[in-house]
Amino acid sequence: MVADATRMDGKVAVITGGAGGIGGATARLLSARGAKVVIADIALSAAEELAATLPDAIAVHLDLEQETSIEAMIARTVAQFGRLDVLHNNAALLGPDIARDDGDVEHMATVLWDRTYAVNVRGTMIACRAALPHLRASGGNIVNTVSNLALQGHMIQAAYSSSKAAVIQMTRAIAASHGIHGVRCNAVAPGMTMTPALREAFPPVLRQAVEEETLRDRLGAPEDIAEAVAFLASGAARNITGQVLVADGGCASHVPGIARFRAFFSGEHA
Ligand SMILES: NC(=O)c1ccc[n+]([C@@H]2O[C@H](COP(=O)([O-])OP(=O)(O)OC[C@H]3O[C@@H](n4cnc5c(N)ncnc54)[C@H](O)[C@@H]3O)[C@@H](O)[C@H]2O)c1
Repeated sequence: MVADATRMDGKVAVITGGAGGIGGATARLLSARGAKVVIADIALSAAEELAATLPDAIAVHLDLEQETSIEAMIARTVAQFGRLDVLHNNAALLGPDIARDDGDVEHMATVLWDRTYAVNVRGTMIACRAALPHLRASGGNIVNTVSNLALQGHMIQAAYSSSKAAVIQMTRAIAASHGIHGVRCNAVAPGMTMTPALREAFPPVLRQAVEEETLRDRLGAPEDIAEAVAFLASGAARNITGQVLVADGGCASHVPGIARFRAFFSGEHA
């Protein structure tokens, strides 16, 4: 019988932002595949609620702006489970207020730029630094959540998008330095993904603009991204490192304006 390399039995995975939409779906999927999961989030009670529904799961308070908090998350994981196999850096500075203030560079508040980089880039670096000795010991790996906005230009979210591009380059740097020691590092770049938070906050007219560029019949769901993360985190991806897996329903794969071409060739505007 061929072994299922996507199984995670005996593995220990830390998921930052594990109480959120994509992080929560990933925690549930990794747990279903046999992993012990550490749900690390600034929203501790939501993390605790999720952990209570999963076997061998714990919730840990994490503030990615605090170096000691990040190091404590890794230390607590190893103290609890004796090892670390997967670090999924998924949390980011998000929310309607942040998105509203994060526009183009000319109008950027330095304080917002610094905070975005503190959480998304510095926080990710510190988590990787603290995890690497344990990942070397287990032959484990890192999966970073980035964004389609790190790969294409847009008029929105200059701080967020460039911070995620920095995480892509960090991904490649870690892969290059640590592959020889048996540690892989990859990134998943979701396109617009309908989390509960986004469903509430994103203007419907802009959502429609993204839907029109999607090659599927709907926008992505958190569970779609979780599958990509779980694949990269598993032994099924053992020969993949330093890569960015774009999970955007094909949005960025084609020449823009495809909705009008669709309409034209279906005769609607003939
Ligand atoms: N949803 C999308 O359309 C989309 C698209 C591209 C990329 N992403 C990326 O996916 C990841 C998950 O986003 P999501 O859509 O699930 O958002 P979400 O808001 O549902 O989840 C984010 C989680 O991160 C936590 N968090 C925020 N700041 C933190 C901090 N300082 N310390 C610890 N935890 C903190 C929040 O409490 C929350 O639980 C993010 O990296 C985001 O940039 C999302």
